[in-house]
Amino acid sequence: MVKKKTCIFISGKGSNLRNLISRSRDNNFPIKISLVICNNMEAYGVNYAKKNKVPYIFVDAKKKNYENKILFNLKKHKISFICLAGYMKIISNNLIRLYQKKIINIHPSLLPKFKGLNTFARMLKNKEIQGGCTVHYVNEKLDSGSTIIQKKFIINANDDVNILKKKTQKLEYKAFPEAIINIFRNFSF
Ligand code: GAR
Repeated sequence: MVKKKTCIFISGKGSNLRNLISRSRDNNFPIKISLVICNNMEAYGVNYAKKNKVPYIFVDAKKKNYENKILFNLKKHKISFICLAGYMKIISNNLIRLYQKKIINIHPSLLPKFKGLNTFARMLKNKEIQGGCTVHYVNEKLDSGSTIIQKKFIINANDDVNILKKKTQKLEYKAFPEAIINIFRNFSF
């Protein structure tokens, strides 16, 4: 199997990156993590790239060459697929158009509920009875592209933000790899 050269975008802890790197070691997993792009110099997640000898670059959204640096590196590493794994920056429409249906994102809620930030606090405030995660295609509208996979859990009366985060991430580590397997089972590009 020829693995798709994939770039993972991160901004923070990188536990989904760690999980995807580990899953991608499996011969039957359809992607190879060929590049990590990070917009935060302090992000712990970059250590997983270093440790596993995955090339990585930092980008600074405040700099003029931000977009060009991303495009240059995607081209340089022949990237054909992109996963946003806790990347807290909006992707440009230009990049979305260049990678139509080839960019996916993981979001810590059952979309279309709770798009955007601070999902857990809003879920508690709204007295939701279930939480979950969604892996979806990225389009021009925030957290609105079509869903690939969702996983759910029950919210208990005394769950707080930390517990919701833990429950969500446990599901994310299953949902993200499953979504990737589903995509490449159904499409070839
Ligand atoms: C994940 O829980 C992901 O769903 C969320 O950031 C976390 C990153 O964790 N993404 C968003 O909120 C995107 N709007 P990680 O850095 O440990 O993978």
